Amino acid sequence: MAQQNYQSVIDEIKSRCNIVDIISPLVPLKRAGTNQKGICPFHNEKTPSFVVSDAKQIFTCFGCGASGDVIEFVKRYYNLTFPEAVERLALQCGISIPESHGELGKKKEGYYEINRQAARFYFSVFAGKKNPGLTYMIQRGIEPPVLKAFGIGYADDSWDSLTKALTGQGFDQGMLLELGLISQKNGHLYDKFRSRVIFPIINTRGKVIGFGGRMIGEGEPKYLNSQESIVFQKKYNLFGLNLTRSEIQKEGYAVLVEGYMDVIGLYQHGIRNVAASLGTALTQQQARLLKRYTEKVILCYDSDQAGIDAALRGADVLRREGLEVRILNVPQEKDPDEYIRKRGREAFLNLIHKKALPDVEYKIALLKSQYDLNDTTQSIKFLQKISDILRTLTPVEADLYIGKVSAEYRISEGALRREVQRQDRNVTSSPQTKDESRGKTDPVAAVSESTLSLERMILRLILLKSEYLEGIREYPEAIVTPPGRRLISVFQELFTEDSDLELEAVRDALEEDELAYLETILREVQVGEKDEDAYADCIAKLQEQRLEKRKKEIIDLLSLAEETGSQSQLDDLMKEYMMIQQMQKR
Ligand code: GTP
Ligand code: MN
Repeated sequence: MAQQNYQSVIDEIKSRCNIVDIISPLVPLKRAGTNQKGICPFHNEKTPSFVVSDAKQIFTCFGCGASGDVIEFVKRYYNLTFPEAVERLALQCGISIPESHGELGKKKEGYYEINRQAARFYFSVFAGKKNPGLTYMIQRGIEPPVLKAFGIGYADDSWDSLTKALTGQGFDQGMLLELGLISQKNGHLYDKFRSRVIFPIINTRGKVIGFGGRMIGEGEPKYLNSQESIVFQKKYNLFGLNLTRSEIQKEGYAVLVEGYMDVIGLYQHGIRNVAASLGTALTQQQARLLKRYTEKVILCYDSDQAGIDAALRGADVLRREGLEVRILNVPQEKDPDEYIRKRGREAFLNLIHKKALPDVEYKIALLKSQYDLNDTTQSIKFLQKISDILRTLTPVEADLYIGKVSAEYRISEGALRREVQRQDRNVTSSPQTKDESRGKTDPVAAVSESTLSLERMILRLILLKSEYLEGIREYPEAIVTPPGRRLISVFQELFTEDSDLELEAVRDALEEDELAYLETILREVQVGEKDEDAYADCIAKLQEQRLEKRKKEIIDLLSLAEETGSQSQLDDLMKEYMMIQQMQKR
């Protein structure tokens, strides 16, 4: 029923909001035939390849392949989730969101209110008369304005002060239990957080969604977090982001740390573009959340082995969202909080600017420390390990690092290049899909005929008009064969904005087998009358592949969400799935 209502809102938005009216204030459009054309807001370009169709009510960029309906546009333009985009458009064209969603919202408001009151209670204890919580935080060097900004609180050592305060305000016991603020044992209610400094976890809409509590002094567990609830899902949130996102936007990068105290410590010392995942490994959703505010992240985790491992995994998660990642290990100290407390802001900034390495370089440096490069056998191992890393990159990036690494470690560039291409096990996969690859299948056999012919068509088109290279760069998964990748990187090298590729120069840059591939393409691939149409067709196919892939992901996610039982998540996924199906029907 709820689904039905929501779907009708979506339909109504699509019939009432003319896509041209929505886009034209944001992107200047000019009439081109029956369509409107402009500079694509989703990638950098100088000549317009962004087309909006009044008749079909869709947009398509022939440069980067972005395409979709009005909701998709709003979603991408403002970096919103699907339901957020729907809400925004509904508001804009005066459509009311159906009851069920309003009801869910209202229900959540009740929980937020309880959390807010709990935070106020903890804060009043903390900021009131002398208490161990305040003493502890002051002793850790955090000053009152920062304590206040984060709304830090204190849960005293009695069994039921919060329970009394909140039930006294008439809040429902069941809800308090669900939020994990109180527990029940032998018919008695008691406070979950006792003798702890309290860190309210606040989302970017300013709602208190949960709490972290640090034990004062020694004791187990050191940190206690609210249990997950209808308003608190760890994997969708980052600690501190409510306070720091504007600073992150302003600075152009985020510093991502492990703990509450790292965020607060850095903030205290004037590093305010910082956030932390909530005591779990960084999730894809958290990466997506960060991406709303910045394109660049510096991972600054604890200096122990666990921190290094977590940073390596985190880097891959961030990279999968297309974020640019650097990794920083603080030298000599346990974590960024201790580092900045002992050495100050300037020293920390200096680390950020001088010692934070791009993820790939960090991985390579780490490898180097594990092998003795004077030993031939170990050098070979080192070379293979590096190739494993480079193989996960886009061809362009891989090419860049092949040059860099071979110069730095005096490895033959040719050898490294061959190694990267030779065992190209992940040949069917882009960086985004590498987890799904199955290991040692024969690379060429693993590629389907249609994928191969798509690759060839794309290469043929670029040979015809090198400007197509730009758009294709957005789809690294399109080029799946090793010679194909090599061709692309040669194109990339030779490409200039103002002239097409010179075939002779391309030929000169190729090895024998690549040259053979090139000749095959030139001989066998027929573009047809209009290369624009052929190109649009390729992009449409790639887009379709991505939609199919996303559908598979959603099906996996749905079964996951069913286990963890979050209704709102289930709803979102269902909606997205239906949305994709509709797009595919067109
Ligand atoms: P301080 O000792 O207060 O400086 O804390 P820290 O941030 O240095 O702690 P640590 O590096 O041990 O932990 C980092 C983060 O992991 C914390 O901020 C918590 O979110 C989480 N964490 C640490 N210990 C526990 C624990 O015992 N239980 C849970 N659930 N989370 C923990
Ligand atoms: Mn610490």
